Amino acid sequence: MSWQPSSDSLTLGIETSCDETAAAVVAGGRQILSNVVAIQDDLHAVFGGVVPEVASRRHTEVITVIIDRALAQAQVSLDDIDLIAVTQGPGLIGSLLVGVSAAKGLAISSGIPLVGVNHLEAHVMSNFIAPSGQQPPAQDLFPALCLLASGGHTSLVLMHNFGDYASLGETRDDAAGEALDKGARLLELGYPGGPAIEKAADGGDPGAIAFPRPQIEGSLDFSFSGLKTALVRHVAKSGIEDGQQIADVAASFQQAVVDTLTRNVARAARQHQVRQVIIAGGVAANQVLRRRIAEVGRSRGIPVAVPPLELCTDNAAMVAAAGHFTAQRRGPSELDMDVFSALPLA
Ligand code: KG4
Ligand code: ZN
Repeated sequence: MSWQPSSDSLTLGIETSCDETAAAVVAGGRQILSNVVAIQDDLHAVFGGVVPEVASRRHTEVITVIIDRALAQAQVSLDDIDLIAVTQGPGLIGSLLVGVSAAKGLAISSGIPLVGVNHLEAHVMSNFIAPSGQQPPAQDLFPALCLLASGGHTSLVLMHNFGDYASLGETRDDAAGEALDKGARLLELGYPGGPAIEKAADGGDPGAIAFPRPQIEGSLDFSFSGLKTALVRHVAKSGIEDGQQIADVAASFQQAVVDTLTRNVARAARQHQVRQVIIAGGVAANQVLRRRIAEVGRSRGIPVAVPPLELCTDNAAMVAAAGHFTAQRRGPSELDMDVFSALPLA
């Protein structure tokens, strides 16, 4: 194999798969030296969701500044960087192209190797990195059971090692984050929906409304579309007039999403010999989910690792980490590598 990163290589990560423009510098695939994220929530909030053209245009406007800021905050220059890692999918094609074009431009002009990263693997890696000087939070206990729940994906994965994954189940319709985003839009709580529902649920009764917990017999797959329909029906029938009603509906809806995710994690942990449970993706920032997954781990005597909140939602530190380990296994990517709207993890 050609060049491979070493344990002290510096990786510049670039992430533009959806609506966050992000760049980060990570040492040895584990230690975060900088992690800069520009969010676009204000641009998309009026539409209640991400508008792809708006997202890619904003990426183009800010990508250079964000990369410069990540280098400056890490107190390094491009000359110090050993590897450039960039998300090549899954994601919005127009958004992915901005990051990949920027990364290719830097790689070609500087001669630094380039590696394409799977965004889902990057989310998983958010469990294995830490700010400079701190110990990476998760130990390398494999096989690990990973719940990956974001705005675009929801799956259960058996992780045998970095880069070695087996899919146990995935959503057959909406992703968990997508269900929360759609629910928040219906309740007029704003975008992104997950944090908005979490906030609105504060003081609400999670048992107030008996929303369904859809289950697919004999499978670890998920389904959230029935839950969304139940919310639509509830709002049409009962309305949502006062603050307490909104809090109760938000808390009950959030609880149904969390229970649906947690139940499959518990079932998978029963069916497979796993040495730890990890969660990843934007929905992993949810406090109710973090508590419930911790309970599953405690009840089965399995350690649970959750990423720091700022690493749950899209960021480039996780991309740099995934790029480091991907390049260790496979070497750098070709400079003509492509972007992919769909890119399975396993
Ligand atoms: O991982 P991510 O930033 O982007 C994708 O790869 O999709 O995840 C974004 C998703 C959104 O659906 C958002 O509503 C959800 O994660 N999310 C949350 C929370 N923070 C973000 N869901 C529940 N609770 C949160 N605190
Ligand atoms: Zn993501």
